[in-house]
Amino acid sequence: MDTSNQTSTPTVLLIDDEQMNRLLVGDYLRDSGYAVLEAESAAEGLHIFDNVRPDIVITDLRMPGGDGNQVVTRLQAIAPDTPVIIISGTANLEEALGTLREGACDFISKPVRKMDRIKQAIDLAMKKARLNRENHCARQALEDEIQQRTHELRDLNAQLKHALESTVNALGVIVAQKDPYTAGHSERVARIAMALGYAMGMPRHRIEALRVAGNLHDIGKVSVPGEILNKAGRLTPEEFEQVKAHPETGFEILKDIPFQGPVAEIVLQHHERYDGKGYPRGLKQDEILLEARILSVADIYEALTSDRPYRQALSHEEAMAHIIREAGKTLCPLCACAFTAANRSGVLSAIARNEHSQYM
Ligand SMILES: [Fe+2]
Repeated sequence: MDTSNQTSTPTVLLIDDEQMNRLLVGDYLRDSGYAVLEAESAAEGLHIFDNVRPDIVITDLRMPGGDGNQVVTRLQAIAPDTPVIIISGTANLEEALGTLREGACDFISKPVRKMDRIKQAIDLAMKKARLNRENHCARQALEDEIQQRTHELRDLNAQLKHALESTVNALGVIVAQKDPYTAGHSERVARIAMALGYAMGMPRHRIEALRVAGNLHDIGKVSVPGEILNKAGRLTPEEFEQVKAHPETGFEILKDIPFQGPVAEIVLQHHERYDGKGYPRGLKQDEILLEARILSVADIYEALTSDRPYRQALSHEEAMAHIIREAGKTLCPLCACAFTAANRSGVLSAIARNEHSQYM
């Protein structure tokens, strides 16, 4: 914006078809310290305005070949910050109000009996225009500041998310080193659980919680001795009791990490059973978080279709049959339905083949 005119002599563009009026008002304004440009028609006035960009425009209303309203409308479109004052001897009150509604900032009746009235109108209009400009600048500065802060917060958030993700991965590596079956297992459980979440129409943030919880669901095994985790034969009751502590241990590890979603609680509940015969708390049906019920189905399917030291993997069909058989018993029927839907879509076989998909 050119502000040169605001600090030096203000320039007034005077548009009036009557030469006498231009002389009277123009001389008065020059004597009052303004630079004055004159035009005898709306078209000429707009042409001068485009070239010179005066600080303020004073225009007659009725002129041959185009009236003052056209000047107001045009300036509102191209230079809304430039004040326009109407001086007219023919307009009635309704017309005067109409020009103000269109965007004129003042209306003075002709003949002008007190020339001071024009100077007052100009000073007031210039002051108002200056305040508008200052407001605009302040608002723009505020918006720029908000935008910059928003960018900074977004960057910070991304860094924090990345740091959290790295920590989560590091935790997963610790367990994987202790129990080789957990590594690939957890990743596939996460992907299957996400596929079930999609099949149920879950929102993205809950599916993200499923991903994280799936990757970490057996994190509590870090406190189970390696010889128990890798034992080829059946576990003794005492050994099994130690393994059964892993959901609570996992919960204790994760409970203070600010995940988006109840990740620690999902991990705590992933061995609860729909019939209430699971552990650690014996929750049943919808006492168990939906995400934990989903994870439970994904966990069982993945475990059944994987070789273990003490048994061979079941086929996909055998594992599917097991899940359908257990729906409404040990497994949530809704999750079993989502499982069959995901199976029909081919997602499960893609995960089994370790193909890259949206459920990574
Ligand atoms: Fe587990």
